[in-house]
Amino acid sequence: MIDCEIRDAQHADLPELLEIFNEQILNSVYSFRINPLTPIEGERWYVSHSDPRYPILVAQPRQPATVNRTALGWASLSPWSDYEAYYRTAEVSVWIRPEHQRQGLGHQLMASLIARARHWDFRVLLSRVEASNRGSLSLHQRLGFQTIGTMHRVGEKFGRLLDVVMLELQL
Ligand SMILES: CC(C)(COP(=O)(O)OP(=O)(O)OC[C@H]1O[C@@H](n2cnc3c(N)ncnc32)[C@H](O)[C@@H]1OP(=O)(O)O)[C@@H](O)C(=O)NCCC(=O)NCCS
Repeated sequence: MIDCEIRDAQHADLPELLEIFNEQILNSVYSFRINPLTPIEGERWYVSHSDPRYPILVAQPRQPATVNRTALGWASLSPWSDYEAYYRTAEVSVWIRPEHQRQGLGHQLMASLIARARHWDFRVLLSRVEASNRGSLSLHQRLGFQTIGTMHRVGEKFGRLLDVVMLELQL
């Protein structure tokens, strides 16, 4: 178990954040992106989170000497829709380096993200989870998310048709 501080992402974190995300894009069905983000796309993504209502949080080891990384995982809030009536609804996203999963970091990041969402007076958090992703479904359930339903065969990656479970957390 690694002792981590949860803090807001800084621009200097961007290469590590992209490394974490792109590894999942390339090797898992948990992201429905197929192409890794280029540095320019990553820059745009980072800038799209400059509004403090939509933070990117990072898990950083408190004793960097023990782990040669700054970010072991990250989580973000994003707008669910730019239609104004959705102003108090956001979508969550969370990614942990494979070698640091099951060490409590996803839970720690999500708990901080939920606290931040409460701070900004969001009313509902939504999440889309690929249906075979038991770890993520279980993490969401532990944090109080309720299943809304399953969207069947909405994704296609690595030659597989993929279902998506929609979850909500009423704050
Ligand atoms: C899903 C993910 C974010 C969970 O983060 P994590 O740091 O590994 O999870 P934690 O150690 O904080 O676990 C918290 C709880 O979630 C559940 N959980 C997490 N991983 C699990 C797994 N592989 N199987 C079953 N339950 C799991 C457990 O209830 C766990 O509590 P416990 O350890 O006391 O049993 C992480 O594994 C990950 O990044 N996976 C790949 C990317 C991904 O799926 N992202 C989410 C996209 S929706």
